[in-house]
Amino acid sequence: MNISVAIDGPAAAGKSTIANIIAHRFSLVYINTGFMYRAVTLMCMKEDVSYTDVQGVCEIAKSLEICFDGDRILVNGKDFTDLIRQPNISSNVSNYAAISELRKLLVDMQQKIASKCNVVMDGRDIGTVVLKNAPLKFFLTASASERAKRRCVELNKKGIPAEYDKVLDEIIKRDYIDSHRAVSPLVKSEDAVEIDSSNLSILEVVEIISKYIIKYIEGHNQ
Ligand code: DC
Repeated sequence: MNISVAIDGPAAAGKSTIANIIAHRFSLVYINTGFMYRAVTLMCMKEDVSYTDVQGVCEIAKSLEICFDGDRILVNGKDFTDLIRQPNISSNVSNYAAISELRKLLVDMQQKIASKCNVVMDGRDIGTVVLKNAPLKFFLTASASERAKRRCVELNKKGIPAEYDKVLDEIIKRDYIDSHRAVSPLVKSEDAVEIDSSNLSILEVVEIISKYIIKYIEGHNQ
């Protein structure tokens, strides 16, 4: 049976943590599409290619061999997971992610992966564009203040200093760019289940999503 699970939502809503647990629980391949945009951003910044240089950005994207290993991303064989989560990447990635030509390249890659295996994919446009026909779609939200709190805890745990006001400001800016861009803006797909996790723990959200997946599997095993 084919299963694909789409999880969309704004920055720091808990998508990746939840998607990773769901992947383990249901033996799905986890594709963090935000990591792909981050990896391209990192390589462009390394090579001094601005987001205004669309052709340069696309050339870099095409030169990257991207694979996933659990919740890690490998780019040209190297583990990029920690590098791409650095604050300088977070503050620039939305500008690169707004380039339609780049989105087309990355969406193609994402669709190719999903055509070969059962996936849980998280991002901003999974339910609306990448996996439009996914039978299981979730839109995860939380208040900006709650998301900023969570992101500070996460960064501090990794030894990365984070000030609440700055993190909140960046989350608000990123939300604005992600939901107002011309191509594939962040919007809830009409058929997605919306889950506001402001007052829910990670495991509570996982349980809600799991119930939908189990119901789907049971319905297709009969
Ligand atoms: O989920 P994240 O914060 O790691 O995503 C990084 C950026 O990439 C964010 O600004 C939104 C963008 N993104 C996107 O536009 N489409 C996706 N499918 C995934 C992420």
